[in-house]
Amino acid sequence: TMSTEQYSKGLAGVFVAESAICTVGVKGVGLNYRGYDIKELAAQSTFEEVAYLMIYGRLPTEQELVAYIRTLSSLRQLPGALCDVLERIPSSAHPMDVLRTGCSLLGTLEPESKTNDQYQIANRLIALFGSMLLYWYHWTTSGKRIQTTTHQDDSTARNFLKLLRLDGQEPPALHVKVVDVSLILYAEHDLAASSFCARVTTSTLTDFYSGICSAIGTLRGPLHGGANEAAMKLLEQFNNPQDAETGIMKMLSNKELIMGFGHRVYRNGDPRNPIIKEWSKKLSQEEGGDPNLFAVSERVEQVVFREKKMFPNLDFYSASAYNQVGIPTLFFTPVFVISRTTGWAAHIIEQRANNKLIRPSAIYTGPDSRPYIPLKDRK
Ligand code: SDX
Repeated sequence: TMSTEQYSKGLAGVFVAESAICTVGVKGVGLNYRGYDIKELAAQSTFEEVAYLMIYGRLPTEQELVAYIRTLSSLRQLPGALCDVLERIPSSAHPMDVLRTGCSLLGTLEPESKTNDQYQIANRLIALFGSMLLYWYHWTTSGKRIQTTTHQDDSTARNFLKLLRLDGQEPPALHVKVVDVSLILYAEHDLAASSFCARVTTSTLTDFYSGICSAIGTLRGPLHGGANEAAMKLLEQFNNPQDAETGIMKMLSNKELIMGFGHRVYRNGDPRNPIIKEWSKKLSQEEGGDPNLFAVSERVEQVVFREKKMFPNLDFYSASAYNQVGIPTLFFTPVFVISRTTGWAAHIIEQRANNKLIRPSAIYTGPDSRPYIPLKDRK
């Protein structure tokens, strides 16, 4: 029997799974993916190495990595039926809804089966999300049907920036690097709401696509992945650091949430924040960067810390970093999807390997039992 003493609103502090994928804030600090420190991965790895680590459970050899990059590249071509549907989605749609829809449609075109297994689908989705987004984007903004594969050796980050700009130019190395690092940082974070949701869905023994669709819908909200978009919208309101100081003080006194701050698990800072902040700063110091946007961001960070002792999470400086590499604000959370699909896949695979239906209980607060009133007697 359940005891109400076990009740924890929002499942805060409750352990609901065993997982070998990552450690978030053990002793309040740090982040490891399968034992590897995120700082080392961000400094030395590429996103494709991390994706491989997530999906196959170990880092690839040099040869495996080259092959994996080519595999992803070969999977970027959209099926015709998916292009048709993307062309019907209005330009006013939120890009997260485009990915959720695209994922669901792909589940009808390439359903999970013995010959199309969870590993293949994971790779297909990682490769296709950027294609879906940018095909829809160019079609709805300029009526262009784009070719969604670029060079076979292009990384996910380079491919994304090339398809975004479509000017035939090689994107600046610094931009490719920043997007690549951010994809590494976003890849996995144990039972974040979206990954938990993917596990809940998977625990009914449903198909792989259903797990990912659930996760995308969960990531979309501003308390989770939608925070990077919301943080940018916040920063855009301020013309300079003084403006930011005044604006944030007003928001705090109105008890408004400052998007991109706080975290359920970390108490003393998000270990991903200093990494993305450094890259955002570097962008701001290069030609084409936005030093004012970085200065505004830093002032927001200082004021929120001074007033509330709260720190930025990964989403906060991701906003200024993405903005400076020219990614439209509405695409910030979709980029998170491309990356986190690797973590979601790892959770789905792990859940299936040791499954138990996830089905908790609620504390009933409704009316006591009462007599049924026949329809004709109701007033
Ligand atoms: C991500 O879970 C993950 O790991 C997620 C993630 C990942 O990689 O998957 O790290 C990615 O989703 C990052 C989080 C993005 N969300 C935001 O930035 C939105 C703003 N942040 C908050 O709403 C909040 O901090 C959460 C949602 C992140 C955490 O919520 P909790 O754990 O439920 O904490 P809470 O809302 O109960 O906050 C505790 C107190 C409250 O005040 P009191 O009621 O106790 O007086 O702190 C206050 C909150 O109001 N607070 C904030 C705040 N965050 C918390 N006040 C102002 N601005 C904020 N951002």
